[in-house]
Amino acid sequence: MNIKIAPSMLSADFANLERDLKEVEKSGADYLHVDIMDGHFVPNITMGPDQVAQIRKTVSIPFDVHLMITEPLKYIDQFADAGADIITVHVESEGGIQACIDAIVKKGVKPGLVVSPDTEISVIEPYLDQISMVLIMCVYPGFGGQSYIPASTEKIKVCREMIGKRDIDLQVDGGINFKTLKEVVDAGANVIVSGSCLFKGDMKENMGQFRKIIQG
Ligand code: DX5
Ligand code: ZN
Repeated sequence: MNIKIAPSMLSADFANLERDLKEVEKSGADYLHVDIMDGHFVPNITMGPDQVAQIRKTVSIPFDVHLMITEPLKYIDQFADAGADIITVHVESEGGIQACIDAIVKKGVKPGLVVSPDTEISVIEPYLDQISMVLIMCVYPGFGGQSYIPASTEKIKVCREMIGKRDIDLQVDGGINFKTLKEVVDAGANVIVSGSCLFKGDMKENMGQFRKIIQG
């Protein structure tokens, strides 16, 4: 399986953002994972569509925009216009899952659904024929640098079974490092988000290490 790696911008040095984003591109990352937090859905705040539009100008790899906001429907058009290539919304958010998928598709962006640790994976089943990606949170959303929740592994396996032959990416986010990477890949994940591990030290070296582990 073709495994894609998406460094999470949350762990970048925001005082040297352009430098760090260039490192991400040079390391051969497949996507840039952009975490959007509203201080309400999660207890942390990151950035809005204007900032995404600005950084979009300096990065050419696809933007994978993870919306951790209470009312994603209100902002989908703005994040699409800011240059998102993939937009994922939490099934626990408000305003309707179907309405979000429709709004994302209407903007010509790939839709994905995110499931937090305490949410049953079966929630996404009715939408599988309409989405391009499922994102399984392996930590409680809100902060980088947390530890992988072991129960996520079983969820990944069940989700991979549910996806079956459909062309849907299975993304994992939270606590993925040199120790946990193999386990999530073996369970069936094929898009790997990682923040604190990839941004600590040399991005290119870390990415090489990731690729080595993936190849087994
Ligand atoms: C957490 C974010 C993640 C986070 C991952 O809410 O969605 O993308 O940046 O960071 P690490 O890899 O450090 O767990
Ligand atoms: Zn994320």
